[in-house]
Amino acid sequence: MITIKNSFAQEKMAIAGSLLAQLFEKLYTFVQPGMTTHAVDAFIENYLTAHKLKSSSKGYLGYKHVSCISVNDEVVHGVPRETTVLALGDLIKIDICASYDGYCADMARSFVLGAVDKAVADFIQTGQSALDKGIAAAQEGARLSDISAAVQQEVESHGYGVVREFAGHGIGKKMHEDPEILNYGKRGCGPVIRAGMAFAIEPMITMGDYKIFLLPDGWTAKTVDKSLAVHVEDTIIITNNGPVIITRLQAEELRG
Ligand code: MF3
Ligand code: CO
Repeated sequence: MITIKNSFAQEKMAIAGSLLAQLFEKLYTFVQPGMTTHAVDAFIENYLTAHKLKSSSKGYLGYKHVSCISVNDEVVHGVPRETTVLALGDLIKIDICASYDGYCADMARSFVLGAVDKAVADFIQTGQSALDKGIAAAQEGARLSDISAAVQQEVESHGYGVVREFAGHGIGKKMHEDPEILNYGKRGCGPVIRAGMAFAIEPMITMGDYKIFLLPDGWTAKTVDKSLAVHVEDTIIITNNGPVIITRLQAEELRG
């Protein structure tokens, strides 16, 4: 069942989303070569605590961390470790889901430490534009798979692969709610999108083949062909005036 969020729920989710967007601004400068992914997770945990955010991942199916940090050929759900030391040139994906007063927002970004190769910059840009096209398709009255088709079309038109094993999702009091939002598919299928629905849209894309496998830790997903992967995610709320992205800085925050 896809729940409709009332204005109370939407406001709480928007607070969670805004705080996550501000956290990512800090992460872009905080994360440096030589740091472990465990240290990055600890920084995130401090921020969440200081801002009354509750991690949705810590304790979820036994997961022990407040973020997923996936490096290079790791696609998603990278487990923060003391032994993973970040290096110049690494393509890093950070994924954080947290709740404010019981209402969740989920967000992920991909970025490179230091100078970015043109090919990698284009690849990241395609992840972002696929996310944007997916969000633009999330209009009241459209069908759920219109989002999926828009994402797939953008990714494949640039020659990249769409990971099949993971998907976006509804979100609210729980991190994962109905519906599942695939990153591939044909337009015009699935439930009709309605105002008040909230979705986490999260394309996971590969430079090479889209096949992935899980590490023995049971979480970290890597590309089989060792090609680089990008993952970006935003949480949106559908309104009569289109989708509102709650995990991006709002105009007043951008002005500072
Ligand atoms: N955005 C990720 C997802 O929806 C967050 C996962 S947290 C984890 O799958 F605990 F499942 F790792
Ligand atoms: Co998610």
